[in-house]
Amino acid sequence: MKLAIVGAGYVGLVTAACFAEMGNEVMCVDADGAKIDGLKQGRIPIYEPGLEDFVRRNLAEKRLYFTTDLASAVQKSLIIFIAVGTPQDRDGSADLSAVLAVAREIGRNLNGYKVVVEKSTVPVGTAQLVRQAITEELQARGVEYEFDVVSNPEFLKEGTAIDDFMKPDRIVVGCDDVRVAELMKELYAPFVRTHHPIIIMDVVSAELTKYAANAFLATKISFINEMANICALTGANISMVRQGIGSDPRIGHLFLFPGLGYGGSCFPKDMQALIHTARSRGYIPRLLEAAEAINQDQRQNFVNLIRRYFDDQLAGRKLAVWGLSFKPGTDDVREAPALTVISRLVELGAAIQAYDPQAMQTAREALGNHPQVTYAASSYEALKGAEALIINTEWTSFREPDFERMKSLMKNAVIFDGRNLYNPVKMAKLGFQYFYIGQKLEG
Ligand SMILES: NC(=O)c1ccc[n+]([C@@H]2O[C@H](COP(=O)([O-])OP(=O)(O)OC[C@H]3O[C@@H](n4cnc5c(N)ncnc54)[C@H](O)[C@@H]3O)[C@@H](O)[C@H]2O)c1
Repeated sequence: MKLAIVGAGYVGLVTAACFAEMGNEVMCVDADGAKIDGLKQGRIPIYEPGLEDFVRRNLAEKRLYFTTDLASAVQKSLIIFIAVGTPQDRDGSADLSAVLAVAREIGRNLNGYKVVVEKSTVPVGTAQLVRQAITEELQARGVEYEFDVVSNPEFLKEGTAIDDFMKPDRIVVGCDDVRVAELMKELYAPFVRTHHPIIIMDVVSAELTKYAANAFLATKISFINEMANICALTGANISMVRQGIGSDPRIGHLFLFPGLGYGGSCFPKDMQALIHTARSRGYIPRLLEAAEAINQDQRQNFVNLIRRYFDDQLAGRKLAVWGLSFKPGTDDVREAPALTVISRLVELGAAIQAYDPQAMQTAREALGNHPQVTYAASSYEALKGAEALIINTEWTSFREPDFERMKSLMKNAVIFDGRNLYNPVKMAKLGFQYFYIGQKLEG
């Protein structure tokens, strides 16, 4: 099929590459000319395992094209996916300006029947706004073309995006027309050969399904963090509690790790958008608001722990930081707990020596060229002369370090572990002062 994917970010680029891999002819459009120029040469602007191979192969086989020309992509394709960003607006709602700008551009260029697919995460009612924007443009042109608007939320995870897209647990399609449902099923059939379902539903339910999924997962993270905080007060061991409850298949082990809470470009903004959706209709979503509050506190409590240890005297102290991305496997630092922790420590005068396997460039851009933050070439280099190590991201390469080498490089053998990577008993034997999430509070 001939497809246009608008937005060449984490979702759009992966969607474009995977559809091309399945034999479709895909035009991937982005407003960012420099990004498109790089992509035409096979240069991938983000770190996502396996993506470069997919892009290069499909470019070479001429199934995948990159362009800034949305008009011609619209005219040449049957299905147009909108995969642009929907960041958080000031009032917490999703900012739909990019989605609606694309919808208008589609309306200005429609030249026959098209299916317009919302791939971006958008609140309930957006399909109606997209439909309206396209219709207004058609009316302004004085032409009539049929089109359908479909909701097809994306569930891929950064770090495993290619695998998630190629072998999805489920595909959700919201549409109001049986023929469009058949077309979407045909498009996705090669991805569900292992019998994972394509779930067809109405548009509004599909729009809400994405928020419900993210809200559930975010709440699960805040739940285990709340249990960790109760462990800290009672002396219970959060690691054992986690295993004890996770073995129940109704609960499950996934997403049940205490830590610095959720971040990234999705959970925080999607929680806020869902809260906004509920409140704007007169309902107070107490569970979601509590999950958000716990998530914010988790970062602040971690900073407070570090402050207390240093008696609030952080000015001029050298601190090593391992992990900048919001989770392992990605270079994405949007809403990353690491950035909050670093910013607060820098405000208090600390000097940060940071290391991350993938996210140093994105962190540098997000934090600005701050004189108190330097970036080390390796995890060990970051430790040189440090009075403590702060761990923000559970990269696998941090799990089994050479602890003796660490001690020899650091000024003090002190670790604040925001991801509970190590065994506290072992750390004590090795001579580290080791602080972790859910640790029993002194006194
Ligand atoms: N990142 C994820 O893991 C993930 C997962 C599922 C769903 N989503 C959702 O998918 C959407 C996209 O997220 P992302 O992480 O890929 O965003 P992103 O910021 O990585 O990419 C968005 C891209 O859209 C481009 N763009 C913006 N306005 C444009 C316009 N008018 N015309 C053409 N291109 C334009 C930008 O230049 C950018 O390249 C969001 O709604 C997000 O919530 C993201």
